[in-house]
Amino acid sequence: MNPKPNIVNLPVYKPGKPIEEVKKELGLDDVIKLASNENPYGSSPSARAAIVAELDNLYLYPDGSAAELTAAVAAHLGVQSDNIIFGCGSDEVIALIARAFFLPGDETIMADQTFSVYKSNAEIEGAVSIEVPLAEGTHDLDAMLARVTDRTKVIWICNPNNPTGTIVPEKALIKFLNAVPAGVMVVLDEAYSEYVTDPSYSNGIKLLDAYPNLVVLRTFSKIYGLAALRIGYGVASPQIISLINKVREPFNTTRLAQVGALAALADQEYVQECRRLNSAGIVQLQDEFKRLGLASFPAHGNFIMVDVQKPAVEVFDALLRRGIIIRAGHQLYPTYIRATVGSAEQNKAFIAALEQVLQEQEVRA
Ligand SMILES: Cc1ncc(COP(=O)(O)O)c(C=O)c1O
Repeated sequence: MNPKPNIVNLPVYKPGKPIEEVKKELGLDDVIKLASNENPYGSSPSARAAIVAELDNLYLYPDGSAAELTAAVAAHLGVQSDNIIFGCGSDEVIALIARAFFLPGDETIMADQTFSVYKSNAEIEGAVSIEVPLAEGTHDLDAMLARVTDRTKVIWICNPNNPTGTIVPEKALIKFLNAVPAGVMVVLDEAYSEYVTDPSYSNGIKLLDAYPNLVVLRTFSKIYGLAALRIGYGVASPQIISLINKVREPFNTTRLAQVGALAALADQEYVQECRRLNSAGIVQLQDEFKRLGLASFPAHGNFIMVDVQKPAVEVFDALLRRGIIIRAGHQLYPTYIRATVGSAEQNKAFIAALEQVLQEQEVRA
């Protein structure tokens, strides 16, 4: 059997290690996962209640168009329903964009490093990824612009950027959007936007009217705490949304996801509280890193990337043995680890373990 040649060398996505696996492998009772930027406080209680109430309807297919949820999100964002498409996580929306728009040989521009799902989906469709190094952990928009050719189809901007956590300020983003040729799509991935408190941050939704080539991605997996349900969405012009909709599977989001997201959206007090706790967690971690003499990138999402000044994969292993799962192995940043901002207690446990690990490595060195 011959696969598409472009997928032969494609790496399989490596997710953060699941808690269950680490407990079993290492015989640990208590494991803290700070590896996948989930919400440490869980989801709104009203989302849980809505999901439980929906359990009687598991035998029914969902509304493939997620009409009720779409209308609620449209009202929340101040757009129309035909500006929105839902996916099985925003991961799926990325895949649908790639499926709908890329022809083999098309070029697509993204940062190095950024969320790996852009590159993998582009390459599955035979597109060529042009990766432009970050400048001090931030998208280098001028360098990205300089790589635009007549083969460029899509430019991906992850804002805040995963894994570094940095943001592109609104002014820089608008300057960039003004310079991008109208025929090139810009996908602004705002998976973590609800966490951002910095006033220089852009809200991509309000730029949609001015830039018909813009697509904004959002998700219920992060601040809304519904990662298990797999539900995210794209917001763009009705023309772009209807094209993406052509390649969507008929029932790509579930009934549980739709009712859970609807209830979670209605509980904006919960979202506000999570944002407040996350901001306090960022300060807690930054203070501790300062005390330990470790430099970190400015964190705007619910995760932080810090230079541990040691091979990050070794620190990862040592933390894992202490029941703390984080992320390492970022090619451009071999001495940096990425940790989700946990609850105050989880952050404390993470810092205590990190301090021990770094001291032990000091002694061995
Ligand atoms: C930047 C970014 N975009 C998109 C996603 C995908 O989120 P989901 O598919 O859960 O909506 C993630 C998940 O970690 C992410 O970090």
